Amino acid sequence: MAQRTKLFTASFNCLKNSNNAYSTSLKNISWWGKVEMGPPDAILGVTEAYKRDTNPKKINLGVGAYRDDDGKPYVLPSVRKAEQIIVSSALDKEYSAIGGNPEFCKHSINFALGENNEIVKNGLNATVQGISGTGSLRIGAAYLSSFFPGSRDIYLPAPTWGNHVPLFKHTGFNVKTYRYYDPKTCGFDFQGALEDISKIPENTIILLHACAHNPTGVDPSAEQWAEISQLVQKKRLFPYFDMAYQGFGSGDVDKDAQAVRLFVKDGHTLCLSQSYAKNMGLYGERVGAFSLIASSKDEAARTMSQIKILIRPMYSNPPIHGARIANTILSDPALKKQWLVELKGMADRIIGVRTQLRDNLKKEGSSRDWAHITNQIGMFCFTGLTPPQVEKLTKDFSIYLTKDGRISMAGVTSKNVEYLAHGIHEVTK
Ligand code: LMR
Repeated sequence: MAQRTKLFTASFNCLKNSNNAYSTSLKNISWWGKVEMGPPDAILGVTEAYKRDTNPKKINLGVGAYRDDDGKPYVLPSVRKAEQIIVSSALDKEYSAIGGNPEFCKHSINFALGENNEIVKNGLNATVQGISGTGSLRIGAAYLSSFFPGSRDIYLPAPTWGNHVPLFKHTGFNVKTYRYYDPKTCGFDFQGALEDISKIPENTIILLHACAHNPTGVDPSAEQWAEISQLVQKKRLFPYFDMAYQGFGSGDVDKDAQAVRLFVKDGHTLCLSQSYAKNMGLYGERVGAFSLIASSKDEAARTMSQIKILIRPMYSNPPIHGARIANTILSDPALKKQWLVELKGMADRIIGVRTQLRDNLKKEGSSRDWAHITNQIGMFCFTGLTPPQVEKLTKDFSIYLTKDGRISMAGVTSKNVEYLAHGIHEVTK
């Protein structure tokens, strides 16, 4: 309040002192005179810069959004079919429940944990529809910020998705990190991660990427996950899984869910955020889910009541269309089967184009070891390019990517891969 009054007085005095202002009406007051210009978003700002570029050869490898081999956005045929079913059902446009579409929520948690899992059967989950991955994380962060009985610190992998940091900071957490990526090997720093996790104080939240780690494309192996699960349990840490890429990493939705399922099997209670932006291509529809796996049915019910109380003043209830699409697909066995084939098709195209990029770099004459391009999985490749190299790639070749050297493999096609390899070679040789 005091800060607000100070700002107002400053703006008002500034106006008073200016040549013509004091006598003019209040409508000329500069309320926002002290507001500084903020930087563009590290990921979405790249798209804005790309759009301004007039070079016909330009490529946008910034935001993680799937493109077909012609570089065009792709609406999955299963999604189109689901939309036709929805339109022909002439459904109403009433408000959704605060927690969203309950049928969708049930399918979503089953999709994560596997059909016939004990958690859902025993009513141990509190699941609500969220506004894509970010919105679902935000619900979880708000709940934990209000009710987590332990530390106000949260540990994120280093590096992590750019939006994780402000998201948890805005909800009052102190963001700390544990080692994850080893720049020397362009792979997972397993020993570093174990060492750092073992030093996290008890009763603290640890964030884990379930699969297709963003931005590195580096995931622990099944054996490594098993060790991490034991350590997290031993240290009495609370795991929060962000699963934004189920099926997009390996093309196999069960394999990509293995870490979450293993933690559940090991007896952890946990939080889980899911997104259908990538695996169903529902980016702008904003479809996701947040779940808390509790230790009893009663605990799940009490949690659910509090999550609804948090959601109501935030956005009241979520939008209906996207969740209807996801629900139609998840609840119709034939359509689900079709979707899984299309999802695998997207994952396979990305895996294929990784090989093409590596081959083309070799053809260019690059003597560097680019094995990590094909070793990493999911939507992104953490190239190892330095910020000056990224800047040069953008300036000289109109190839847009985030400053950390991450490229969205989903934007690489058989038509632009040669040009991309040429650009990368030119800035790294
Ligand atoms: C990305 O990392 O590019 C995506 O998750 C999109 C986003 O919102 O940042």
